[in-house]
Parts: sequence; structure tokens; C-alpha cells
Amino acid sequence: MVRHLYVHLPFCASRCGYCAFVVEVGSLGLRDVYLDALCEEFRREQSDLGLLETVYLGGGTPTLMRPHRIARLLDQIAPRVADSAEISIEANPETVDRAALRQLRAAGVTRISIGAQSFQQDLLRSLERNAQPDQVRDVVACAQDAGFDSVSVDLLFGVPGQTHEQLVADMREVQALGVDHISWYELEIKPETALSRMGAQVPDEDWAADAYEAIVGELEGHGYRWYETANFARPGHECRHSLAYWSARDYLGIGVGAVSTIDHVRSRNPIDLHRYIAALGSDDAIPRTRETLDDDMVRRERWMLGLRLDGPLDAGWAGPPDYPDALGKLAAAGLLEHADGQVWLTRRGRFVQNAVLHELMEYA
Ligand SMILES: C[S@@+](CC[C@H](N)C(=O)[O-])C[C@H]1O[C@@H](n2cnc3c(N)ncnc32)[C@H](O)[C@@H]1O
Ligand code: SF4
Repeated sequence: MVRHLYVHLPFCASRCGYCAFVVEVGSLGLRDVYLDALCEEFRREQSDLGLLETVYLGGGTPTLMRPHRIARLLDQIAPRVADSAEISIEANPETVDRAALRQLRAAGVTRISIGAQSFQQDLLRSLERNAQPDQVRDVVACAQDAGFDSVSVDLLFGVPGQTHEQLVADMREVQALGVDHISWYELEIKPETALSRMGAQVPDEDWAADAYEAIVGELEGHGYRWYETANFARPGHECRHSLAYWSARDYLGIGVGAVSTIDHVRSRNPIDLHRYIAALGSDDAIPRTRETLDDDMVRRERWMLGLRLDGPLDAGWAGPPDYPDALGKLAAAGLLEHADGQVWLTRRGRFVQNAVLHELMEYA
């Protein structure tokens, strides 16, 4: 039974220069029909659904749906949602104010993840973000007042041109906010983005490795648990929805471009908004792509996801690595430990997680 739901809300005011997500710009007039399509898709997907433990409203810019549409969506799915469920929303600072945040909380949202990315005006400009640093600070404070169970911020490091001083300034800013959870990602320059077309370069590996260590050290020093590669939480504020992904649990994704993984079948909805809406407005099946995950894929994915977490991976559940002999070698090198069928990375191993995975797996 599926206990985790992802809802993709693709509308954005503009496309940020680094973003390769499924995003719709200039289509705000379609929000109501899109909401109808989402509700219809949810209605059609009842057979595999258990009581939902987590719901994640991601985007795109979910907050551009405005609180009344989010409330309608949550009302529709409410009969299938556990009372204790975590209901998360991603928010862009320039799209919410104090009143909107209160309305989202009243609609049942329990967790908000605010896309700050940086507090440095230069970096926000080069990322083509629409919010100013002051706006980001204000919205975080309003979200904290609105009574969400957890307030999180997203940040990026490795932005082209970012200096060490700017990184330190962002670390100071985020500590001052006192949020419950922080996701701090290394910027990836993906093909097909404006940053890539401009020939932007990520910083060299040593700068990025030092920045990562500095971030982890600083946040741990302020009481955040480094519970996943890029995620930090005060005790009890870990994102339950993301933990479900990293634990390779089944999830249903609804909306344009949304991915589902159920009973070892991974399916993806069309990424074209009009095609998606048309399919849901007729009796046609949604034209999804489908891939069956074979045993090797499942085993490799369990290792790849499980070693992102700070807890042990149960090798009995995940299956053996492709190169079991590497376990001893990596343990001798101080990168990993294993006992009683459990495997976990040491602190040093976590900083070179990809290299460790490449030693263990044919591909990762
Ligand atoms: C899917 S985005 C949507 C959130 C929201 N629209 C926003 O922009 O804040 C979720 C998070 O992914 C991260 N992200 C997006 N593109 C990225 C990239 N190219 N490299 C690393 N992280 C990225 C950002 O930190 C962002 O807050
Ligand atoms: S980063 Fe966020 S706001 Fe910017 S285009 Fe992507 S989804 Fe939209």
C-alpha cells in the first residue's frame, strides 16, 4: 500500500537560470483546470493507496496556486490522509505574505520549505531569483509565527563566483533565522539551463569540498543533525516525506511530469501540461512512460539512497553490493563500518559518498 503522495504544482513567474525542473511560465490562467485535473488523477489512483502518512506539494512554485486552491486540493485528498500526516509545501518568498502563510497553515499544511538559495544580493541576481534578501528573512519569520510544525529553508552553494566570505555570510544568516530544517544543496549546472548556455562553471572540486565541510561543521555546531547528504534537522524535524524516498518506499506522484514508484514499477506522467490536462479531462488513460525495476536496479537503488542517510543500511533488506570485497577495503580505509548485516558510512566516508558507492557498485 502506498503511504506517500507527491503533487507537482508547476507554475512559476519566470524560470530561474539554473532550474531544469518541469516548470510552466506564463500559464497562470490554467491553475483552476490544472487543479481539476489533479483531483481527477487522485480519484483514479485510489486502488494502491493506503492511508497517507506524508503529502508533498512541490514545484514549480506551489505557493503560486494561492492558499484557496491549496485548501481545495487538501480537502479533496483529506479522506485518504492520516491525522498525523506531514503535509509539506515548497514556497517562494515573493509569493507569500503573513496572511497567506496563516491560510496555508489553516488549510492543513504542517511543514513549509522556503526557497531562499542565498542571502547575498549578487548571488540571487546571478541565479535570477525574484526575491530580495530582506523578503526572504521576513517570510521565514512570518512562517515561524504562522505555527507550522517545521519551517525549512533551501540554500545553494557553489554558485558561480561565490566567494568564501559570501558562504560564511550565508551560514551566519541561516543560523540567525533559527529554522527547524535546512536543505543546503551544491548547485548543479544542468544542460538546457540558462546558466549552462552562458558557459557558467561550478567552482573547483577543492573549493566545493571545503565549502561542504564548512557547512556541515557549522550546522552541526548549532544543533542540526546532518541526517542526509544535503539535509540538516533539529531533532524531530527531519522531513518524513524525503525519508520515505531515501528508504525506497513506494510513492504516488500526481501532476504534470510526476513520477511514481509502486511495486517496482516506475512511471512518469507526460511533461506537457496541455497533454496532461487533456488526458484527465477525457476518459483516456494518462499517457505514462513505465519502467519495471529489475532486482539489480532495486538493489543498487537501495544502496545508493540508503548510504545518503546517517543511519545504518540493512544489507539483508538491500541485498549484497556488486563488489562485497570492497566492504573490507573501505572499512580499512576508515570510510565505512559494518556489523551484523548493517552498513554505514563514517563521517569521512560521508564526505566522499559517491566515491564509496563507485567502489561498491557497478554503477551508482
Ligand atoms: C524544485 S525547487 C522548487 C522550489 C521553489 N520553486 C524555489 O525555487 O525555491 C526545490 C529546490 O531544489 C533546489 N535546486 C533547484 N535546482 C537546482 C540545481 N540545479 N542544483 C541544485 N539544487 C537545485 C533549490 O534549492 C530549490 O529550492
Ligand atoms: S527554481 Fe523554483 S522558482 Fe525557479 S524556476 Fe525552478 S521551480 Fe521555479
